[in-house]
Amino acid sequence: METKLLDDCTQSIEIAADILKNGGLVAFPTETVYGLGGDALRPEASKKIYAAKGRPSDNPLIVHIADVESVNELAEDISDKARHLMEAFWPGPLTIILKKKDVVPMETTGGLNTVAIRMPSHPAAAELIRKSGVYIAAPSANTSGRPSPTTAAHVVEDMNGRIDAIIDGGPVGIGIESTIVDMTGDIPTILRPGYITKRMLEEIVGEVEIDKAIIEPDPNLRPKAPGMKYTHYAPAGILTIIEDKDEPGKVTEDVVREINRRAAEKEKTAILTTEDNAHLYQAENIILLGKEGDGKTVAARLYSALRECDALGVEYIFSESYYRDELGGAIMNRLLKAAGHRVVKV
Ligand code: TXA
Ligand code: MG
Repeated sequence: METKLLDDCTQSIEIAADILKNGGLVAFPTETVYGLGGDALRPEASKKIYAAKGRPSDNPLIVHIADVESVNELAEDISDKARHLMEAFWPGPLTIILKKKDVVPMETTGGLNTVAIRMPSHPAAAELIRKSGVYIAAPSANTSGRPSPTTAAHVVEDMNGRIDAIIDGGPVGIGIESTIVDMTGDIPTILRPGYITKRMLEEIVGEVEIDKAIIEPDPNLRPKAPGMKYTHYAPAGILTIIEDKDEPGKVTEDVVREINRRAAEKEKTAILTTEDNAHLYQAENIILLGKEGDGKTVAARLYSALRECDALGVEYIFSESYYRDELGGAIMNRLLKAAGHRVVKV
């Protein structure tokens, strides 16, 4: 299959919208990461998405909408709290789990009776949904297991020849996937941390829990979001996080010494650090995330940094750790998964 590369002007979005209407697949930018879209109400389109990603079909897809009212066609038993979250955070990087209506096929929800719904704020995404007239089922547009794409070039790496078209909207703004909150129980529960933090949700709806299975890896706990199982977002090289045992998240002298010691022992190494700390290290490749203490810039660079390691053929990657507060919690969630939870405390 030849994959059309499109820009994000209105004419191109019309071409992409036609592809979706006809049951095809289009990758498109959102404010979080690039998505791989198909018609959410057509079982064959969802099946094609799983095939293109090489993703297990029990891992449900997020349905993207362009107007709040659309939620009433897809879901039922919508609580007041859920409505308040939509009002506060849509359009934006929040995915809400609700009880699904029959129109949403089990192929899209991975066999679950619930559906994940999100209204993206990226103008190209909103225009694509409106012009196509379909609700777009879209996982992140990476091959299953690889870091999510934050540029169209990342999507080309993974999806060229496997889907009908890719809309290039430039680099995304946020860089990590949406926060997922389950609103089907009594207490709202975060199933995947993201840019919208627990505190931000609590300001709107009061008490919020975090799915225990995503805080500490425990083989006895099964994450409620099927996609949150163990390793993920992983680069080809072996990633190890080095953390101070007394002050996790702080880049102490011990952390710097241990990272330099390990990097010196191996070949084909890379160190992931911030612009502020880069001068402290010696390695073949020093790869910069954002600024220390500025989670937004770190999140925005994280996945492209991991892909850069792959492109450089790096075999061993060493990373500092980050404070697990607010957005830092979401960054550490992705970094720990990319590392398969390989953390060395010094
Ligand atoms: O930011 C995002 O959310 C991006 C952009 C493209 O919108 N999408 C994204 O989709 O990250 P994906 O498929 O890579 O991740 C969806 C996550 C998976 O962990 C999946 O298991 C979970 O959402 N999920 C989807 N439907 C669910 C449901 N009904 N119940 C629980 N978890 C669900
Ligand atoms: Mg994904």
